[in-house]
Amino acid sequence: MSDTAGESLADRLVAANFARCDGVLHVSGLDLRGLAETYGTPFFVYDADLFRRAYRDLAQAVEGFAVVDYSVKANPVPAIIRVFRDEGAGAEIASGSEFAASWAAGIEPRHILFAGPGKSDLDIEATVAGGIGEIHLENSEEMARVAEAAGRHGVVQRVAIRINPGPDAQGGAMRMGGKPSPFGFDEEELEAIVDAVEAEPRLRLSGIHLFAGTQGLAAATLLSQWAYGLSLAERVAGRIARPLETVDLGGGLGIPYFSGDTALDLGAIRAGMPALIARVASDPRLATARIVLEPGRFLAGPAGLYVAKVRAVKLSRGSRFVITDGGMHHHLAASGNLGQVVKRDYPVTAVVDRGGPRSPCAVVGPLCTPLDMLARATPLPDLAAGDLVAVLQSGAYALTASPTGFLGHPRPAEILVDGGTAREIGPAGW
Ligand SMILES: Cc1ncc(COP(=O)(O)O)c(C=O)c1O
Repeated sequence: MSDTAGESLADRLVAANFARCDGVLHVSGLDLRGLAETYGTPFFVYDADLFRRAYRDLAQAVEGFAVVDYSVKANPVPAIIRVFRDEGAGAEIASGSEFAASWAAGIEPRHILFAGPGKSDLDIEATVAGGIGEIHLENSEEMARVAEAAGRHGVVQRVAIRINPGPDAQGGAMRMGGKPSPFGFDEEELEAIVDAVEAEPRLRLSGIHLFAGTQGLAAATLLSQWAYGLSLAERVAGRIARPLETVDLGGGLGIPYFSGDTALDLGAIRAGMPALIARVASDPRLATARIVLEPGRFLAGPAGLYVAKVRAVKLSRGSRFVITDGGMHHHLAASGNLGQVVKRDYPVTAVVDRGGPRSPCAVVGPLCTPLDMLARATPLPDLAAGDLVAVLQSGAYALTASPTGFLGHPRPAEILVDGGTAREIGPAGW
């Protein structure tokens, strides 16, 4: 999905994922103005069918090579995890609370993987006691603490080694390894770590984990990363002289956020499968492994909209500012303050757009900081107080990655639309 003249990314996303009836944006047949009246603004709304579509598209693209789990950090609301669970996903979690959310959503603990560089004693205790499928070790202290917890519970805990790839690792045209990182063990010390885990009777080395970075839009890069992950898996399986049970190749599949972004080509991913499948099938060290992808953004991002109401529109020295009740306290990523060096605009659209002229405006929030800017210069039609705007691609790393306590504004509702009906699923749904 790349830009074409005259049509914005927001227009193309609306056409691909949502619908306008008489110019009014709908989610799975429901008028957003009605949702705003029922739930108040601002709010997040998610379309369950879009979650399912993303999951199925990816699962089909990698069929025969890998299974798809859901990285809960992208959006940890249990009702959303449940949608993915019903599609067949296990979960990748980063805290005890995400473990609880996944469990509440019906994912069996043995289908949950726990990664994260600074796991707390409490989280290790809870996940080991709860029978988690695999804990991904990121440093030696953690290895010792997981072993102690396993000893206390009288279990042998399945663990994977998270590997920070070495300088020779290539992800397509991009060098993906060789950088210092707090995540995982450096590939250069892999054999020593493997031996240390193998020497620990309270741990069973069941897999490896490689996570090479987020927001990957190039299929060739992802395919090379996965191939590199297989070579690391072969190396570890050779060292322990038995096949691995899991090879976790991470998430990191991207979605288009900015003008000029091109959507990940799942056809190209599919075209890369025969080579990977043949390689796995021909190597007894890999043939029985469960190869896992655990994306968050790709699965959850496109299904979500953040909808805010216009409070005022004003001109300042020739620039148009649309001041809304939504902002960075709910959607830090759209404000450009999460992982962007230079702010670029997320796709934003007017909920009612009947095709009149558009002109660029800044869409800002109610917080008294210039950082509270949802869009710097986005083309929108004439707007007035009471109108609604929607930020697209807001299903992942939105509310969960935002400073909701900042300035004491209320939390937004989170609404799931499924089968033509809407229901609130936010913290109240816990
Ligand atoms: C270990 C691990 N797995 C999966 C993810 C999900 O990444 P993404 O949402 O880019 O797919 C992350 C993101 O930080 C991660 O650290």
